[in-house]
Amino acid sequence: MLVGGEHVLVDPDLRRPYETDWTGAYKGRAAAVVRPGNTAEVAAIARLGMPLVPQGGNTGLVGGSVPDDTGTAVVLSTLRLRELGAVNTSSAQVTVGAGVTLGALQAHARASGLDVGVDLAARDSATIGGMVATNAGGTRVLRYGTMRHQLVGVEAVLASGEVISHLGGLEKDNTGYDLAGLLCGSEGTLAVITRVRIKLVPVYPHRVTALLAFEDLSSAVTGLARLRTVAGLDAAEYMVRRGIDLVRSTFGVPEPFRREHPAYLLVEASGAVDPTAELAAAISTLDVLDVAVASSAKDRERLWALRELHTEALTRAGPPHKYDVSVPLDRVAPFVAEVLEAVDSPSRTCHHFGHLGDGNVHLNVLGDLADELIFGIVNRYEGSISAEHGIGRLKQPWLHLSRSASELAVFASIKAALDPIGMLNPGVLLS
Ligand code: FAD
Ligand code: MLT
Ligand code: ZN
Repeated sequence: MLVGGEHVLVDPDLRRPYETDWTGAYKGRAAAVVRPGNTAEVAAIARLGMPLVPQGGNTGLVGGSVPDDTGTAVVLSTLRLRELGAVNTSSAQVTVGAGVTLGALQAHARASGLDVGVDLAARDSATIGGMVATNAGGTRVLRYGTMRHQLVGVEAVLASGEVISHLGGLEKDNTGYDLAGLLCGSEGTLAVITRVRIKLVPVYPHRVTALLAFEDLSSAVTGLARLRTVAGLDAAEYMVRRGIDLVRSTFGVPEPFRREHPAYLLVEASGAVDPTAELAAAISTLDVLDVAVASSAKDRERLWALRELHTEALTRAGPPHKYDVSVPLDRVAPFVAEVLEAVDSPSRTCHHFGHLGDGNVHLNVLGDLADELIFGIVNRYEGSISAEHGIGRLKQPWLHLSRSASELAVFASIKAALDPIGMLNPGVLLS
């Protein structure tokens, strides 16, 4: 037995949660689910040479973490790889197992006065291995970058069962190819990540969160240019009336202002010095319709809930067709206007919200598919068909829109070098 018998699930009822993704839109069938407890067990499983679907928290939104419906692949769940290494406070780094959730790592780091640079609403389920495999973004990219920017090194199991490990934590280490960087965003197609070394960021004593209301998205984009000058700006997330209405009607959360407004920007700043006065000064120069400043942790949570509950509200109303796209920031407003004009119809409704600071728009269509229409517009605006969720199964047929033929040829060569028999996550990312 490669792993304990209780960690090989063949019973259909036990397999089911691992065969269905978070949205419920992707349902596959696995030969079995295996839950290795350490790197050696992952390596032994890889050496069997069966098709493997690495799976962490299964919160990915593009169908990359579940098998297809052939019943031939084994789901390799990393959830037992939960080692939490000691936080090194001098280098502000830590090594953790791939199956550690973001929430668990945040608690671990905060106990040492540090924090994780990336944050996202699925924090209690999404794993660090999955976040590296998807190069997750989230709400603090404008300050700390994506998962790639936190990454110092990885340990991973190759398709051959061989283990590669580079976890020394050296900030400067120019000794050839950046293998951790290569695996970041590879969506389980090149190796199974088993351990990750990441940089941590400071926890600042002062934090301010504010919700600003605007006449339209275009005014929010203009306002953001001024808000960016506030030292320690962590987040700039936008929402619009349609999404707020859906979140409010789904969860019964209160209206943030006395009046309803067309567009909202949720901003947060933190620092060693209280950023409230600087943020207030910046806001006073803007054309805002209303402002709410969170003065307690509870108020802050209430404001963030309006934004973070969008995904769950849309899933309950759908599941929606998800289009996680980015376009140059100064073109976000006309881009969204054009999409709404083309997509909204009696048979479908387009919701949108996103990480405005990163030009990342989450379009969610309830009703008929709009792939060709939306990706065509994204292409004309010189955007990306996947800003942060990855390609998975969902966007595989469209990858050529964002990557040239020469780039795709390099992808194929890398895949052939690391996984010659194509056993790692077949059908995901690459055709
Ligand atoms: P999974 O869903 O299990 O897997 C995702 C992909 O990574 C799959 O292709 C899988 O094969 C591969 N993989 C997983 N673990 C490994 C491993 N150890 N080695 C190799 N490959 C592996 N994403 C964002 O970027 N920003 C957001 O703001 C954001 N918000 C979200 C909010 C909600 C409510 C939800 C449900 C999802 C959100 N996501 C967001 C998407 C998701 O949380 C991220 O993509 C996350 O990184 C996935 O982590 P996971 O552990 O759940 O990975
Ligand atoms: C978010 O920013 O909330 C996520 O990426 C999830 C989503 O797109 O629904
Ligand atoms: Zn997002």
